Amino acid sequence: MPDKNGTWVNPLHSHNDKRLPRIAGPSGMVIFGVTGDLARKKLLPAIYDLANRGLLPAGFTLIGFGRRDWSKQDFEDYVWQAVTEGARTKLNETVWERLAEGMHFVRGNFDDDVAFDTLAETIAEMDATRGTGGNWAFYLSIPPNSFADVCHQLERTGMATADEQSWRRVIIEKPFGHDQESARELNEIVNAVFPEDAVFRIDHYLGKETVQNILALRFANQLFDPLWNSQYIDHVQITMAEDIGLGGRAGYYDGIGAARDVIQNHLLQLLALMAMEEPISFEPAELQAEKVKVLRAAHPVYPLSKTTARGQYVAGWQGSKWVPGLREEDGFDPNSNTETYAACTLEIKSRRWAGVPFYLRTGKRLGRRVSEIALVFKDAPHQPFDANDVTALGNNAVVIRVQPDEGVLMRFGSKIPGTTMEVRDVNMDFSYSEAFTEESPEAYERLILDALLDEASLFPTNAEVELSWAILDPILEYWDANGRPDEYRAGSWGPESADAMLRRDDRTWRRP
Ligand code: BG6
Repeated sequence: MPDKNGTWVNPLHSHNDKRLPRIAGPSGMVIFGVTGDLARKKLLPAIYDLANRGLLPAGFTLIGFGRRDWSKQDFEDYVWQAVTEGARTKLNETVWERLAEGMHFVRGNFDDDVAFDTLAETIAEMDATRGTGGNWAFYLSIPPNSFADVCHQLERTGMATADEQSWRRVIIEKPFGHDQESARELNEIVNAVFPEDAVFRIDHYLGKETVQNILALRFANQLFDPLWNSQYIDHVQITMAEDIGLGGRAGYYDGIGAARDVIQNHLLQLLALMAMEEPISFEPAELQAEKVKVLRAAHPVYPLSKTTARGQYVAGWQGSKWVPGLREEDGFDPNSNTETYAACTLEIKSRRWAGVPFYLRTGKRLGRRVSEIALVFKDAPHQPFDANDVTALGNNAVVIRVQPDEGVLMRFGSKIPGTTMEVRDVNMDFSYSEAFTEESPEAYERLILDALLDEASLFPTNAEVELSWAILDPILEYWDANGRPDEYRAGSWGPESADAMLRRDDRTWRRP
């Protein structure tokens, strides 16, 4: 039976039971920016995958809004193309036909009153004919400088406001501003039209299984928590390395750079989940309260000349392929100072984390694609072995492999079989693909479904967004005032200055 949100629940179970598959109630979605890269590669395939898994309501309706002169059929063809290229689950004709029936396209610009009036009429018509029940999510997959126009139009036409039995929500994509002040302004624009509980900000890292597993690892187990503090942890490394370059993304990336692109959101969210205290429950408000607390306590370590590093890739060998540097990539300013690599050192001023540096790094065109979080332990206080027998021993570590090869690894010393007491590092490895037969859903499947279900746990609030900027702003200002990024070769592990940053602390980056 449907609950008060129109969500279908099994009456035999409490609807708080997080094990049950949840199916979205009657609803539809309007995507602005539907011809963009994100919609084509991620959103449309995710919507199909949700439909294919039976998690969307029968009358689910998808309206694309854009400038192209498209008929319903053109839009269907476009979505079909995106689905065949990007869907995770098998193509099923019946599912596709049912989904395609509910597809429509409205042509227009964001400042075009007539187009938005047509959109409002289309929505009303869908409510009358497809049973969408007045429940609509507006997905803004558009540059933030268009948020104001779209929000204004949604307000003017009454689409932003629901009646008592239905809901209206807005889903927004980063970048949420380029510093704290602009994030605040953006939040004001959105919140002037949609109340905060109707705003769903996407940070797709929070939709990843391995990221949600941080909560399970930390709070479902007894094994880790006693060690999860400054008494045992030497430092934490959070890495998001990518091997791809930035060809084709100049419009978005030039002038933005690696820190704004992923540290402000993905990496600081990972830090928050790793470092926060146990929430009272996993209700959105409780989880967000803990994240806000830890983000408030996080600060850059000074002096920034020694505790941060940034770089820009120059041409080099990426595996067996020679690839161009950023300044030669299509569309980039040949004198661009945009950083494609960023690293910084943060501290968390709390009893749990005092004195434990959190090193964050990210980069494009690095040696390998890998995202991971490593907790590196302090040395054991005493080694009762002959120094020669343990010389090769590194620090113990717990490594959460976010992707690829998702899993958790523990590294510790073990006796080498034989007649002497020689100790060497070994790995104990949990891998998702070996432990589970279920395939992980794509992050966007989870997040789109959660937005339709009004399940806000995995969406950062505006407080989190603004606090993340507050952490990053001093670093960005320092970089702005201090010339160009260092160079690093494509295919390498970043600029020398990033290695020097850790060397000064007598530490080294992991080479995953
Ligand atoms: C996006 C960034 O948020 O995340 C991109 O804008 C980056 O620059 C992407 O490539 C990486 O996502 P994933 O899921 O492939 O790690």
